[in-house]
Amino acid sequence: MDNRPIGVFDSGLGGLTAVRQLRQVLPGEDIVYFGDTGRVPYGSRGRETIIQYARQDIAFLLSQDVKFIVAACGTVSSTYPPSESSHLPVPFTGVVGATARCAAAATRNGRIGVIGTQATVRSGSYQAVLRQLVPGVQLFAKACPLFVPLVENGYVNDGNPVTKLVIADYLTELRDTGIDTLILGCTHYPLLERMIGEFMGPDVALIDPGKSTANALEDALGALDLKNSRDTGGAVRFYVSDSTEGFAEQEALFLGKYGGGPVEQIAIEQYAWPPAAASQANRQGKTNG
Ligand code: DGL
Repeated sequence: MDNRPIGVFDSGLGGLTAVRQLRQVLPGEDIVYFGDTGRVPYGSRGRETIIQYARQDIAFLLSQDVKFIVAACGTVSSTYPPSESSHLPVPFTGVVGATARCAAAATRNGRIGVIGTQATVRSGSYQAVLRQLVPGVQLFAKACPLFVPLVENGYVNDGNPVTKLVIADYLTELRDTGIDTLILGCTHYPLLERMIGEFMGPDVALIDPGKSTANALEDALGALDLKNSRDTGGAVRFYVSDSTEGFAEQEALFLGKYGGGPVEQIAIEQYAWPPAAASQANRQGKTNG
């Protein structure tokens, strides 16, 4: 048992799609969420910048005494080196491993599509895991950089004409490949799930990284004996790096009935690396994703 909160971060608010799932699956857990709203998007940036931002995000969460860190960001999960995440003082997971495993279980014809940010697609992270899991898999990847700003700006209502056009522009080629499974490889994308689903058709299974990772986290907390002693009543504290103005509406959009909790702006650049505790060996020795 461990009653400390789970730390979750993303480049912006997309990681709230993972928080929503965590609230559903683990309602007794407290969560500290950091969204780097002042520096989003990460996905169009270079590798070194993404790693530097991820280090500061992790240093902030460690300062909040979290028991487990979840990078609810496809971009960070694909870029932050396992050689570093395995030496953090608490267990760490990204979203790639669990999401790829769900896609591997879902495909029937072995043709899987991956969409994500430029950095995620360039890294080949999902593809590397899928090649190990599905012998002979055929992979089709496409970067969709405009999806993140569309979601952050609330262009997610069903049938939004601008979003519909962008979806058609990005996904027509993928649809024509005959994939039966599509990984929404960025945590912002589940907010476009219905529109993407309509475009791809009912025979294509859409895989949500937040959902896959929340389920995997439940298993990991159980295996490491890190679950909260409560079964209900967990709370969320939100932190962002830009103004908190408008956060309530965005939070409602991402979290629906799972929303609620105080929000505070922090100066993320002040969190230095390595954080005091990061030089210790990973207490639990558990890293994945
Ligand atoms: N939610 C982030 C991801 O999963 C968005 C990345 C970005 O900031 O570009 O990749």
